[in-house]
Amino acid sequence: MDLFEYQARDLFAKHDVPVLAGEVIDTPEAARAITERLGGKSVVKAQVKVGGRGKAGGVKLAASADEAVARATDILGMDIKGHTVHKVMIAETAPEIVEEYYVSFLLDRANRTFLSIASVEGGMEIEEVAATRPDAVAQTPINPIDGVDEAKAREIVAAAKFPAEVADQVANVLVKLWDTFIKSDALLVEVNPLAKVASGEVLALDGKVSLDDNAEFRHDWDELHDKAAANPLEAAAKEKGLNYVKLEGEVGIIGNGAGLVMSTLDVVAYAGENHGNVKPANFLDIGGGASAQVMANGLEIILGDPDVKSVFVNVFGGITACDEVANGIVQALKLLEDRGEEVTKPLVVRLDGNNAELGRKILTDAAHPLVQRVDTMDGAADKAAELAHAAK
Ligand SMILES: Nc1ncnc2c1ncn2[C@@H]1O[C@H](COP(=O)(O)OP(=O)(O)OP(=O)(O)O)[C@@H](O)[C@H]1O
Ligand SMILES: [Mg+2]
Repeated sequence: MDLFEYQARDLFAKHDVPVLAGEVIDTPEAARAITERLGGKSVVKAQVKVGGRGKAGGVKLAASADEAVARATDILGMDIKGHTVHKVMIAETAPEIVEEYYVSFLLDRANRTFLSIASVEGGMEIEEVAATRPDAVAQTPINPIDGVDEAKAREIVAAAKFPAEVADQVANVLVKLWDTFIKSDALLVEVNPLAKVASGEVLALDGKVSLDDNAEFRHDWDELHDKAAANPLEAAAKEKGLNYVKLEGEVGIIGNGAGLVMSTLDVVAYAGENHGNVKPANFLDIGGGASAQVMANGLEIILGDPDVKSVFVNVFGGITACDEVANGIVQALKLLEDRGEEVTKPLVVRLDGNNAELGRKILTDAAHPLVQRVDTMDGAADKAAELAHAAK
């Protein structure tokens, strides 16, 4: 999960990384009181999870409370690289910035370790600095057991050639930032710019944090989730423990196992070329052990998507045998109908693998008017695409 800048700021503050005051708002007028509290000036910063906000006009200085309201009016609702700005942070203005540095810690998957990246040429995109002046970027591997103590922090400071007058402060920031990184189970913590201001102080003016979703069970991250951005069906699926991704098409897809679901997407897209270019509407993996309840949950999500015109259930029986899946489908439809939900979209079911014959027989015997059995993956994809096209 990527955090917004204001959330990163709060996390940094909690771990004693030096930051400036900042508050997030979603109406322009709210900028007034905060700016007044900050001494009559502020920086208005778009909160979107995409880089290059400054260049896009999403970071503006305001010299008065009126101006802050005006800038917030401009920025709220703005589109930055396809992200609508719903919130802005009203930040304390840094006293005159003298230099801008870059520091980060991240998981280096390729080398199976953690890595520190540091540069005295911060402010701009680090990828650009790395490409044009690789010498200006110091990459230091971090042993996960030892972490970053003061000695390691000084090694990073020396490798990146930070000026002597900020060495102590930068080393201190690095130790605190490492603390943030480890205690938050982050995959990335980045400060750009880490600014040296006229007083000689070093401050984190912009932060990027990405948390490891696999560690969520040991944290309280409820408040960090961006509920406004989440697709309601994706949120409902997540609540039910289903792996669901909304796509822009007409054929709903349910399968068991990510590999099978992904190849089903391809087959449906291919079949769709012969049927008015219909495409997969989603990715839904019910995983192993698909009980009737899991199938009902999956079907409910898929049928709840108004874009879906037909559903393709593609199951290869393994640990979960096809007869269980077939029973699951029959019971799921009954469950939904009993619940008073009108099921009107056609289902194409392909069962293969463990106990396929029995599974197919169960579907045939049930003779549900909306369910069609097609026993090959290509054939079933073609049928589902045809039905979706007909219903468009
Ligand atoms: N609180 C602040 N006070 C003064 N100047 C600031 C402040 N925050 C940011 N700036 C200036 O604005 C520049 C851009 O800000 P920031 O780094 O937050 O956005 P960005 O880099 O454009 O966005 P992103 O990180 O999304 O690419 C900074 O490099 C800094 O010079
Ligand atoms: Mg930045």
